[in-house]
Amino acid sequence: METLIIPNGNKEQIYKALIPQIIALTEGEDDYVANMANISAALKEAFGFWWVGFYIVRNDSSQHGSSLVLGPFQGPVACTRIAYGRGVCGTCWKSEKSVIVPDVDEFPGHIACSSLSKSEIVVPVIRGGRITAVLDIDSDKLNDFDDTDRRWLEELLSSDIRLT
Ligand code: SME
Repeated sequence: METLIIPNGNKEQIYKALIPQIIALTEGEDDYVANMANISAALKEAFGFWWVGFYIVRNDSSQHGSSLVLGPFQGPVACTRIAYGRGVCGTCWKSEKSVIVPDVDEFPGHIACSSLSKSEIVVPVIRGGRITAVLDIDSDKLNDFDDTDRRWLEELLSSDIRLT
C-alpha cells in the first residue's frame, strides 16, 4: 500500500515533504496515465483542492491541429476539450508559461467547469521542448495560488517523471 505522509504546516512545508514522495511514487513507472492519476490524487489529498487534473495535447481536426483533452483528474466532472489559446488552460498552452488566476471571474475567456471554482493555476508539462499537457488546479477559495505553488509544481513537472 502506498501512503502519503503529509505534515501539518504551511504550503511551503507541505510541498517540500510531498514532492519527493510523488517523485518516489512515480519512479520507474512508464505509463503516463498512472503517473498523472497519482499526481492528481496526491495533490488533492495533500491540499484538499477543489479540482486537480491534466489536459493532454491531442491531435485533431481543429484549426490549430490539436486540442487539450481531459486526462486523469480528481474532482467533479469537467469539460473534455479546450482549444488552443482558450480559457486558462489554453492560455498556458499558447504562452508556454504557468498561469495564476487569483479570481477566475476577472479572467477574460475563463472556462467555468464549476461555479464553485474561484481561483486557478495551470502549469505546463514540457517534454522535448514542446508542451505535451498542462496540469490544472482549481480552488474554491479566491486567491489561493502564488509563486510557491508555481515553483514547486514546475519543479515536479520538470522532474524525470514519465508524463507522455
Ligand atoms: N477553467 C479551465 C477549464 C478547466 S476546468 O477548470 C477543470 C480553463 O479556463 O481553462
